[in-house]
Amino acid sequence: MPPNFDRLAPHYEWLERISFGRSLQACRVAMLSRVAECRKVLIVGDGDGRFLEAFLKTNSTAVVDTLDISPAMLELAQRRISVILGANERVRFHRADVRHDSLPGAGYDLIVTNFLLDCFPQDELNAVVQRLSAVAASNGQWIVGDFENPAHPGARFFARLMLAGMYAFFRIVTGISARSLVDPSPFLMAGGWVPVAKKAWHRGFLVSRLWQRLPTDS
Ligand SMILES: C[S@@+](CC[C@H](N)C(=O)[O-])C[C@H]1O[C@@H](n2cnc3c(N)ncnc32)[C@H](O)[C@@H]1O
Repeated sequence: MPPNFDRLAPHYEWLERISFGRSLQACRVAMLSRVAECRKVLIVGDGDGRFLEAFLKTNSTAVVDTLDISPAMLELAQRRISVILGANERVRFHRADVRHDSLPGAGYDLIVTNFLLDCFPQDELNAVVQRLSAVAASNGQWIVGDFENPAHPGARFFARLMLAGMYAFFRIVTGISARSLVDPSPFLMAGGWVPVAKKAWHRGFLVSRLWQRLPTDS
């Protein structure tokens, strides 16, 4: 069964605010100043479009494909950006499952997955990283904002409790198949990506990383 985020969509922003304040949004947009030169962007699982809105306001030329499995999330994102001048001409919305539907293009110089990769168990995560790597440009960048298991023991305990609660909630409400957090870094590195920038919040529980693809000899 594919996950269904439609029920959650109208409540997603306020639930986030009462649980994490503004730190998730800070995490989403933390790398924006470093991707100002991007021209062709693929955003996957952007939800209600808050990254997309911020991106369009800082980059006035890039064309964007934004893909999500949830029609309700896509509708919220579409409504959110409709007031930004010129946005409708440079953004295409796609309803698709990133795990197996065809992706809308190739040669993306920026891929963005904020709080998406944590929805997948290990085998699906590996496959999703490979699929997205295959449509990235050879010099592409990738923003990954997500939860992580912090190194600090005190923070790690807090993170475990939070993650247990969040996975139980998301499994009941949306039907995601993941039961726990899997680190995507080994899969990204295996695909030729290297981390080039990092920002963290809540003692390393929340992390935004910018990955850069290493050019391959061809
Ligand atoms: C936890 S929400 C994160 C939303 C947003 N990126 C954020 O920063 O909060 C996960 C999003 O990914 C989408 N999603 C989950 N599984 C997906 C899949 N297999 N293919 C495409 N989108 C998916 C959901 O519909 C939802 O919008």
